[in-house]
Amino acid sequence: MIDPATFAAGLPKAELHLHIEGSLEPELMFALAKRNGVAIPFASVEEVRAAYEFSNLQDFLDIYYRGADVLRTERDFTDLATAYFNRAAADTVRHAEIFFDPQTHTDRGVPMAAVIEGLLAAMAQAEAAHGLTSRLILCFLRHLDEEAAFATLTAAGPWLDRIAAVGLDSSEVGNPPEKFARVFARAGDMGLRRVAHAGEEGPPAYVAQALDTLRIDRLDHGNRAMEDPLLVARLARSGMALTVCPLSNLKLCVVDRIDAHPIRAMLRAGLRATINSDDPAYFGGYVNDNFRAIAPQLTRDDLIALARNSFLGSFLDDAAVADHLAGLDAYAAAHA
Ligand code: ADE
Ligand code: ZN
Repeated sequence: MIDPATFAAGLPKAELHLHIEGSLEPELMFALAKRNGVAIPFASVEEVRAAYEFSNLQDFLDIYYRGADVLRTERDFTDLATAYFNRAAADTVRHAEIFFDPQTHTDRGVPMAAVIEGLLAAMAQAEAAHGLTSRLILCFLRHLDEEAAFATLTAAGPWLDRIAAVGLDSSEVGNPPEKFARVFARAGDMGLRRVAHAGEEGPPAYVAQALDTLRIDRLDHGNRAMEDPLLVARLARSGMALTVCPLSNLKLCVVDRIDAHPIRAMLRAGLRATINSDDPAYFGGYVNDNFRAIAPQLTRDDLIALARNSFLGSFLDDAAVADHLAGLDAYAAAHA
């Protein structure tokens, strides 16, 4: 019999919480800095990695936005996403729904077209090369205002038929979901799905607001919902998928130790939890590293449930979900 971590690594899976800018490995950061003539405040790849010690979300965001400055051209976004898709395919990711932060780029003068066309090119290549399908999720930066979010949605107008959903990320505390109620309502009217980071550092009330005010289809993180049993029951009853990111939670001090991570309690409470890497270049691992980190707390059936939840929580159509679940069942049967 194979050990649980190896079993988990081979599971067909979807990744639903991945910031493409957070997959920028230091090696590519240096290569793009050179190609674009951009100065970066680090002398070596080792120095960059050594700087990745964070005590909270803001610590990380400060360095993450600085790293993104090397991304300038359409080709840069294609190279960035191609590197991620190649890495994800090696982790048996069959489908990925990736976040991008347009404001991080358009505010520096990078055209929206360069960002989106660059990502779309990599997505087409990943499907051709690996059979890995993907979708785009346009995130609004919540430390900026509602007006800027509306302007971003308008600027993305020509590509909205190739964008699956809007999301909400960046500094959570002090920027509650209700700040973006109207732009999320507009996105919903346009036929876009809605997701939001909530309950990563923010209180359970932010999770409730994301449900009631933003009318989300999926909850990103959601850890602090565990503090409110009624909220947990509501999330379980509605079948809301949670995109949980164990190594991110460890690196950003959302949990003190990996064996104190709530993933097992989430599954026992009936939550549709999934496992994701968030910002793998910054948090020490891709999706299988995250599975490996939590596997010791879980049963084989839990690991299968996490992979199953990733397809059920995706924005794929029912036929595609059924195909992936059949593949998952075949894998489980072959490793009984
Ligand atoms: N942007 C990139 N990663 C993030 C995270 N984990 N939380 C909020 N915003 C982010
Ligand atoms: Zn995130």
